[in-house]
Amino acid sequence: MRLLPESALVCLESTLVSENNLLAINSLSVSFGGLKALDNVSIEVKPNNVVALIGPNGAGKTTLFNAISGLVPADSGQIKLEDNLISWPKPHELAGYGIARTLQGVGLFSGLSVVENVMMGADIHRKSNFIKDILGLSSRDEYELKEKAMQALAWAGAAHLAELEPKQLTYPDSKRVSLARALVMMPKILLLDEPAAGLGQDDIDKFTKLIFDLKRNCSIVIVEHHIDFISRISDQVYVLNFGKVIANGTFDSVKREPAVLDAYLGTQQSNSSSNSSRAL
Ligand SMILES: Nc1ncnc2c1ncn2[C@@H]1O[C@H](COP(=O)(O)OP(=O)(O)OP(=O)(O)O)[C@@H](O)[C@H]1O
Ligand SMILES: [Mg+2]
Repeated sequence: MRLLPESALVCLESTLVSENNLLAINSLSVSFGGLKALDNVSIEVKPNNVVALIGPNGAGKTTLFNAISGLVPADSGQIKLEDNLISWPKPHELAGYGIARTLQGVGLFSGLSVVENVMMGADIHRKSNFIKDILGLSSRDEYELKEKAMQALAWAGAAHLAELEPKQLTYPDSKRVSLARALVMMPKILLLDEPAAGLGQDDIDKFTKLIFDLKRNCSIVIVEHHIDFISRISDQVYVLNFGKVIANGTFDSVKREPAVLDAYLGTQQSNSSSNSSRAL
């Protein structure tokens, strides 16, 4: 079953021409006081690839997204987009670079309906601020914004939820809505932080199909603890542990690396309740 009609593919307006890296991070270090959360981390993301960041809790995965998103400052390191060196983006510049992200939690605004939450994501193409201007939009602008948001909800399989409030959503449905909010800007690069957390196998299977549809038109960097899911969707895997990349390559190659086995076995030994899906 196809989740998406081909004509509705989300990143259709993004033109990926480079055969080289769409995104490259070189030697990034980030520290919080005395803690080195990222230590000399380099990753490369090719067009139309799914790149997975995996590793135990506290390894630095979300911090990497936060550095790319301008939420934490880099101590050192470089970021290149389509092989051009740029300054570390500020949060408001991300959309202009074609980068969208979902948060590790769900992050929906409770005072707004589902479709309004998604409209917030589309608003980055407008000069004005949605919250400030929602009441002042011309009816035509509002109609267009809502159309885009409804399309993104449909891409994420959540069109039927449009008029609900976030508190009425099940957890899997709220994950779909937060994905729609990222998709609505038609990103070239989608950063997904634990999108499958809390989802059952059915939803993960649907999400797997969605990832394959999306990657035809954009690149995806995904942080995830569901290792089976990662094994199915990833072209390239980076394994982080204590802020360092300890392995990278295809899933099948990294899963055999002794350093990776150590990192995961260490996690399991020190946490008797750890989920078996984390095991390699
Ligand atoms: N804003 C912050 N201030 C201080 N320390 C932080 C901050 N953000 C992250 N850290 C610390 O940096 C380290 C890396 O955290 P990060 O959230 O990036 O890990 P993670 O790999 O995403 O873990 P998880 O799988 O649990 O989400 C942790 O030790 C964390 O406590
Ligand atoms: Mg995290």
